[in-house]
Amino acid sequence: METAGRSPEQYMPALKAAGIKVIHKCTSVRHSLKAERIGCDAVSVDGFECGGHPGEDDIPNMILLPRAAEELKIPFVASGGMADGRSLVAALSLGAAGMNMGTRFIATKEAPVHQNVKNALVAATELDTRLIMRALRNTERVLKNANVDRLLEIELEKGAKLTIDDIHDQVAGVYPKIMLDGQMDAGAWSCGMVAGLIRDIPSCKELIDRIMGEAETIIRSRLMGFLDGAGATRKVA
Ligand SMILES: Cc1cc2nc3c(=O)[nH]c(=O)nc-3n(C[C@H](O)[C@H](O)[C@H](O)COP(=O)(O)O)c2cc1C
Repeated sequence: METAGRSPEQYMPALKAAGIKVIHKCTSVRHSLKAERIGCDAVSVDGFECGGHPGEDDIPNMILLPRAAEELKIPFVASGGMADGRSLVAALSLGAAGMNMGTRFIATKEAPVHQNVKNALVAATELDTRLIMRALRNTERVLKNANVDRLLEIELEKGAKLTIDDIHDQVAGVYPKIMLDGQMDAGAWSCGMVAGLIRDIPSCKELIDRIMGEAETIIRSRLMGFLDGAGATRKVA
């Protein structure tokens, strides 16, 4: 079971008694260490690039993952910005045991969301996400759209006085309109910077097979090449 958002401490005895492995998602090293302390089996370390709630520390995975590797004894997966074989090899080299993908999996054939959502991810670039709700200490990375622009204007106007009521129309109850009805401007929905690396809508099997193939090619052809002196000239796109 993956837990997220707040500490799963109160549920740990019941989960452990039922033989369930618990992976807690954390956006900081200190929260990861707490997860380890309360008996979580693994952590999903979620960097600043991630879609959804990156926390308030703003540490990208290039720093967060090796920091987690320095401190944690339990295994962790890299989360946030993960899309392909390059992400996987990078995550492994930074100390992770694997990777977790959120945004990338939404642009797959099986994802139970409207086709417009998948198309929006293919069309988006890495420049198209915005951070909202920072003043509420509930920061969320979302895909830019007309309603997110309006929300950001309200945030600018209200400054530190912002309340959730001020942005109610842009954030409350919008997911069914977007995900099921495909109304792409209906409000703010979580999306990672990794949208810039999404160019197709494969099946999950095609995606995973491709990732594993790419990772193998990168390791064998490029990384091993560094040991025989040819790696630097072998480009992996
Ligand atoms: C549309 C969408 C909805 C999400 N909803 C939740 C959620 O309800 N709870 C949660 O803990 N994380 C949620 N996330 C975050 C993911 O679980 C994951 O941490 C994140 O997507 C990883 O970053 P990536 O999008 O760059 O892969 C959501 C992400 C997306 C894209």
